[in-house]
Amino acid sequence: VRKIIIDCDPGHDDAIAILLAGANPKVELIGITTVAGNAEVDKTTINALKVCEIAGLKDVPVAKGSAQPLVRKRETAADIHGDSGMDGPSLPAPTKTIAAEHAVDFIIRELLASDGDITLIPVAPLTNIAMAMRKEPAIVPKIREIVLMGGGTFGNWTPAAEFNIFVDAEAAKVVFESGVPLTMFGLDLTHKAQATPEIQERFKQIGNPVSDFVVELLQFFMHTYKEVFGFDGAPVHDACCVAYCIDPSIFTCRKLHVDIETKGEFSYGMTVVDMLGVTGKEPNVNVALELDQDKFWDMMIGTMSNYSKT
Ligand code: BDR
Ligand code: CA
Repeated sequence: VRKIIIDCDPGHDDAIAILLAGANPKVELIGITTVAGNAEVDKTTINALKVCEIAGLKDVPVAKGSAQPLVRKRETAADIHGDSGMDGPSLPAPTKTIAAEHAVDFIIRELLASDGDITLIPVAPLTNIAMAMRKEPAIVPKIREIVLMGGGTFGNWTPAAEFNIFVDAEAAKVVFESGVPLTMFGLDLTHKAQATPEIQERFKQIGNPVSDFVVELLQFFMHTYKEVFGFDGAPVHDACCVAYCIDPSIFTCRKLHVDIETKGEFSYGMTVVDMLGVTGKEPNVNVALELDQDKFWDMMIGTMSNYSKT
């Protein structure tokens, strides 16, 4: 069983990532940390609590993290996720409370106390992870792997940059240069993980409160992706990282060198992926490029079916 911490900004696809981790026996979700990204951190934290509540994840701590990127001004994604960060489904106000500790301290404490067996899954701007690495460098060799959603060989926030990396590229630079084993789920991969109307129908058929919630999330997300990008499905970006920890054989990855652009006029926040090895630099990132559609959706739907019918 793989121990994971999800660092997130729920976010429709973040919510699906949490739900996937919450009901799959191959992973143990030891905590959720939140950060500003899709919306302000107060909102993403409330959303994380709501997701835990509907999923019955009573014992999973939710620690609130950074409200601002390291250097840049905060930027949010209301056009994609709505003003709340998770518009669409209406969930009751959570009764679960936020952990007393800051997310950065939670990450540091858990890693230092571990046997080096914790995987971090950041699916949001990398502010908390970079802060933790700077505050306590002794955590760096303790991280088993970082499996993150971000980047790609093209962008969705600018032509060059994907949202999570763009929002805090300085933090991304810290993380990508840390030397920790890193697997990157960028847009090249996550746009292939699109919940089409047919896939949404399969979630509908499950018929438990969590799967109904997933359908509502997907419907809202599909609508904004249609409006903004002209897509016919909802890409479940963040869930891909959890899926990889559950069954890496779903994905095809390549070890490549990736640099983070923090200066470019048009390319700030780009993950510069050396596809052809032209830099001659050692690969530092395992880049996810392909997925087995049948295996992926069977696992997603199978896991959501594990939630209680009532
Ligand atoms: C990423 O940005 C966020 O809007 C999503 O939750 C995902 O983590 C996709 O670019
Ligand atoms: Ca996210």
